[in-house]
Amino acid sequence: MSIIADDNDFKTATEKKEKNPVIKPEEIEADRNFENSIRPKTFDTYIGQSGIKDTLKITIQAAKKRNLPLDHLLFYGPPGLGKTTLAGVIAEEMGVDIKITSAPALERPRDIIGILMSLKEGEILFIDEIHRLNRVTEEILYPAMEDFYLDMTTGKSQTVKTLRVPLPKFTLIGATTKAGELSGPLRDRFGIIHRLEFYSDDELAQVIERTAGILEIEIDESGAYAIAKRSRGTPRIANRLVKRVSDYALVKHNGKITESIANISLDILKIDEYGLDTTDRNLLKLIVEKYDGGPVGIETIAAAIGEDVRTIEDVCEPFLLQAGLLQRTPRGRKVSPEGYRHLGYKISVSDQQSLF
Ligand code: ADE
Repeated sequence: MSIIADDNDFKTATEKKEKNPVIKPEEIEADRNFENSIRPKTFDTYIGQSGIKDTLKITIQAAKKRNLPLDHLLFYGPPGLGKTTLAGVIAEEMGVDIKITSAPALERPRDIIGILMSLKEGEILFIDEIHRLNRVTEEILYPAMEDFYLDMTTGKSQTVKTLRVPLPKFTLIGATTKAGELSGPLRDRFGIIHRLEFYSDDELAQVIERTAGILEIEIDESGAYAIAKRSRGTPRIANRLVKRVSDYALVKHNGKITESIANISLDILKIDEYGLDTTDRNLLKLIVEKYDGGPVGIETIAAAIGEDVRTIEDVCEPFLLQAGLLQRTPRGRKVSPEGYRHLGYKISVSDQQSLF
């Protein structure tokens, strides 16, 4: 697998330095080597997403029988659920190389042209954050995806000539957290589209035990479950928490992660039993205390808690919505009765009426 560039390489210094606490699912630089070292390489070792895995296995077998590359694939869903990992598994199962890049790295036409021309027959090109492709790059991709050629122009004004350059048959795997922001023509060129789901506690506990095994960390089943429950359905968070809890277990105990060690150390990290951190709780509290439970607009929330709108939309909200603590309405965000209970607020009769 070759990583050409990814979004981290294109973030400003300020963006890189931004606080990125342990439970935020976006990839940070420190994750990269760690994640590569524990990434499952085959379907047998990839835990969860069983529906997607089952259909992909059939698709791969059919492509192999026909001796053709796979159809272009689009994975969407919240960050940290294993879109890149799944692309790597597909490449391994197809027995082909994968080139990994990210839309913000494909700024100029020559960026995408260079990559497309370097591909070999059957190889996989993985583009992360594909909703962020610029229009020119997207238009270069259309004929490349559909008919495997590039239209290149040479010469100037009156002498301009178009050269049709054939490309090897490749598979594009796109990944996005925002499928709704993909243009129609690009979305239509993907033959297979899958939405990745949050993981169950059972699945996360298995991910945690597997990671602990690779890192030679001792953990018992209840310790793995304790971490799983606070990992917001997200393997990337679970894997980070294993390391943090393991540090605590080593310094304060005999190194073994048990349920009580996990709970104490996660309490110290201020990650509650739903996996919410201080920012998430502040967001919910703000809506309850200052806006009577909502609805309130996202810009107002962002300004009041000092986060940017994108972080709230991409990082905090998907899990708060999925956990049923927050609701999205046409007039803004509302805290659900479950959200009130989780924060320890009593719900009055009038609150109840307005909340339901
Ligand atoms: N690490 C991160 N995601 C994983 C998964 N789905 N299965 C196993 N280990 C993982």
